[in-house]
Amino acid sequence: MKRTKIKELLASSPSNQLVTVSGWVRSFRNNQFISINDGSTIQNLQAVIELDSIEESVLRRLTTGTCLTLTGELVASLGKGQVVEVRVSELKILGDCDPEKYPLQLKNRPSLEYLREIAHLRSRTNTFSAVMRVRHAMAFAVHNFFNERGFYYIHTPVITGSDAEGAGAMFRVTTLDPNNPPRDTTGSVDFKEDFFGRETNLTVSGQLEGETYALALSEIYTFGPTFRAENSNTTRHLAEFWMIEPEMAFYDIHDNMQLAQDFLQYLVRYAIANCNDDLEYLSRRAKDEEDSKPKDQRSELSLTDRLKFVAENEFQRLSYTEAIDILKNSNPNKKKKFQFLIDAWGVDLQSEHERFLVEKHFKKPVILYNYPADIKAFYMRQNEDGKTVAAMDVLFPGIGEIIGGSQREERYEKIVKRIQELKLPEKDLWWYLELRKFGSAPHSGFGLGFERLIQFVTGMTNIRDVIPFPRYPGNAEF
Ligand code: 4AD
Ligand code: MG
Repeated sequence: MKRTKIKELLASSPSNQLVTVSGWVRSFRNNQFISINDGSTIQNLQAVIELDSIEESVLRRLTTGTCLTLTGELVASLGKGQVVEVRVSELKILGDCDPEKYPLQLKNRPSLEYLREIAHLRSRTNTFSAVMRVRHAMAFAVHNFFNERGFYYIHTPVITGSDAEGAGAMFRVTTLDPNNPPRDTTGSVDFKEDFFGRETNLTVSGQLEGETYALALSEIYTFGPTFRAENSNTTRHLAEFWMIEPEMAFYDIHDNMQLAQDFLQYLVRYAIANCNDDLEYLSRRAKDEEDSKPKDQRSELSLTDRLKFVAENEFQRLSYTEAIDILKNSNPNKKKKFQFLIDAWGVDLQSEHERFLVEKHFKKPVILYNYPADIKAFYMRQNEDGKTVAAMDVLFPGIGEIIGGSQREERYEKIVKRIQELKLPEKDLWWYLELRKFGSAPHSGFGLGFERLIQFVTGMTNIRDVIPFPRYPGNAEF
């Protein structure tokens, strides 16, 4: 018989028809009630074994984690919590699960840290299946949003030869033998002998390549994995993360900020409208986690309230200069509570400052713009004041920076001068500079860290728990 998904069955009414269900046992009680889950929903299906209908030796194998397929009548449930249940007439075990060895038992709730060590099994937990269903919904919504607005999805390369973005340290890609690489006459490694005939790396961002298509198709976006070889062991950094980078011709920094707000609000509203069951579960999970923290560190809003709050409120826009004034005069700065004190214009903001602005001062998402040129990338458009660039960062509660972007410098002389000042490899950027020689146009774009978005939407505190197999310093298991 054809298998029906549990999500579909739970949404239907008792039909007394035979149905077939496959999935994994979550619990088996009183030698009679199987709670079974197939990942189509956070809800389990209850299957009831009629007395003496299934052999005792089979029933004994029904432990948490066992995979089975069963057939039975879909009937009204007498128990509370579900409308329908299945009265089992046939049951076949597809895969046994040794209760002595299976690490995911109901009684001892494993910690998130421990689950990271068994990432191949954590997919079987409520938390991780809920997070990944939300992650799927968000990826789908990203494409919906841009498709509705006539943006084209461009696949930028994962392996690149350009190392000029300056976004972070890179992972080298090579097929040379590390123990015996070919050398040139000066004794240095001869990358002409390497696979691509040059040095190559995993991309840190698809932006520069994305710009080439924005200056032809007007509005494009990329959505792919990006790699940064920084040694940052934080709850917000991964060595491999997914980034969405829209790039738009004829947009200035203000159009860019508006798009960023519309985009984030669309995604959050999509999650509220389509991920209700999972968000309810995750909201309860997040509350349990909050309750275990000291009172003064707890968040004032629940997960669902935080989502509604972002979906419904305008983001606060303010310039870097205004932000510095607020921070300089803030209580934690005066009382020396910040780890990095704000004393002068020009310093880079740390996440403690970003979170102060968002969570304490404005109590809503903030878009900071017009940053000092010296702390931002070479390609950002130089403002008239001679010291700031048209950069923008979107800051979210609990997360800090979720989006970084800018209007791009479209003027050939200005960008060449900046490249020279920063001593960047001008010759590697020849193609990027040609965009400014041939039919240049004002344009803008930004990058949304997909995992930081998923953290915000699911309320998971550690970024390692919102991607199936996290990559971070010292870890590439699986
Ligand atoms: O601010 P970033 O470095 O900007 C860029 O890469 C630009 N090229 C984007 C653009 O204008 N097209 O990164 C953008 C976003 C950050 O705001 C953050 O959300 C995320 O990417 N991000 C990371 N997420 C997880 N782990 C890391 N190591 C991240 N680094 C950045
Ligand atoms: Mg940034």
